[in-house]
Amino acid sequence: MANKNALTVTDHRTGKTYELPIQDGAIKAMDLRQIKVDESDFGLMTYDPAFMNPASCRSQITFIDGDKGILRYRGYPIDQLAEKTNYLENAWLLLNGELPTKAEYDGWETEIKHHTMVHENVKKLMDGFNHDAHPMGMLVSTVAALSTYYPDAKQVHDKELRRTHVKRLIGKLPTLAAWAYRHSMGYPYVYPNNDLSFAGNFLTMMKKMGDKKYEVSPALERALDVLFILHADHEQNCSTNAMRAVGSSMADPYVSVAAAAAALYGPLHGGANEEVLRMLREIGSLDKVPAFVKDVKEGKGRLMGFGHRVYKNYDPRAKIIKRMADEVFAVTGTSPLLKIALELEKVALSDEYFVQRKLYPNVDFYSGLIYDALGVPVDMFPVMFAIPRVTGWLAQWEELVDDKEQKIARPRQLFVGKSQREVPRFVDRPSKA
Ligand code: ACO
Repeated sequence: MANKNALTVTDHRTGKTYELPIQDGAIKAMDLRQIKVDESDFGLMTYDPAFMNPASCRSQITFIDGDKGILRYRGYPIDQLAEKTNYLENAWLLLNGELPTKAEYDGWETEIKHHTMVHENVKKLMDGFNHDAHPMGMLVSTVAALSTYYPDAKQVHDKELRRTHVKRLIGKLPTLAAWAYRHSMGYPYVYPNNDLSFAGNFLTMMKKMGDKKYEVSPALERALDVLFILHADHEQNCSTNAMRAVGSSMADPYVSVAAAAAALYGPLHGGANEEVLRMLREIGSLDKVPAFVKDVKEGKGRLMGFGHRVYKNYDPRAKIIKRMADEVFAVTGTSPLLKIALELEKVALSDEYFVQRKLYPNVDFYSGLIYDALGVPVDMFPVMFAIPRVTGWLAQWEELVDDKEQKIARPRQLFVGKSQREVPRFVDRPSKA
């Protein structure tokens, strides 16, 4: 009788049949290697240029069901986490698997705050950038530079030491992010104030001017904290994959985080909310929405903030952000762009093109509007994403480093270039017309 937990494959080139075990809903790609036409054959591979189907790891951190629109950190639904916890509780949860007790949380918060300061030399690094340097480029570079301040970060198998660097990265990211912004504005840097909350401190480092006390509105502080929760992890996305790929060579966490942040910079990933705001500004008024949607359907650009590789339903984070937008705009006054966004969503969700392709608003569709209302310029949007995502990257990296099944990430290729030929000297090379 056939094994019920196996896949039977017949290779019609040879007529041979193979039985491949199925575990956790997957076959092992390496089991395909035994399928060969003859002994000199390398063996069968899978071709998957954008990693559409491989499971690259076993992970216990974040669960997504894209069809149902579900996102959970360590089993807890994202909407409950957004309602009942703060960002630093989520950072602990992602890294440790459970929510902290009150005593654990107090210690954790103190330790993260202890690491918010950066070496004074980092200011010189920041000063080296052009006045109009993109803050994300500055963040990527300065995070990578932190590696040179902490050479013991290379000891990635030392769990205790590793945790110190994890705390450093979580604590320092807001400082680097705020300073990148201050540099681009030509403002003096503001040092961290550890009497404030994680989100409150970041807003203060960005916004404080002169000696005047900067008062953070509790509603805006909470909105930012919720945005941090929603962006903290999202399983094996492009930047996390970069973190794991670079981390798999046992590179230290600073350069690995820099690589992940570089991946996040792209407009198809963390740069999307920046593009959303530009798009809404370009549309400019409600009457231009139908013409814009028509252009998108004709292939003239994409509707930014719509569509997702995994969610084929409303992104659960977008739902929470959309609700939160009302609370933020109650404090800041409404934005004309919100009206355009709501109309755009309405038109798209009732249009056959978007319905058929299961294109729904993703997390970036509304987050840019909230950042805008908080007075954060568009160039800073991917930076805002990186501040909390560092927690997810680090949790995934620790899981990778401790995973005995992992090795250096090294995919194969289907070579479609020229076969071996002789190297001609200049005189023998045909001249080009
Ligand atoms: N606007 C218009 N059409 C779209 C969009 C969009 N935003 N997204 C996908 N499509 C269309 C594609 O043209 C394609 O149509 P076709 O089948 O006629 O060729 C179909 O929908 C499937 O699209 P893919 O590109 O195969 O989808 P994929 O899973 O590769 O891409 C992605 C996902 C990159 C997010 C895409 O939807 C996109 O570019 N969205 C806009 C950018 C964006 O908002 N990114 C943020 C993602 S969330 C995050 O990173 C936090």
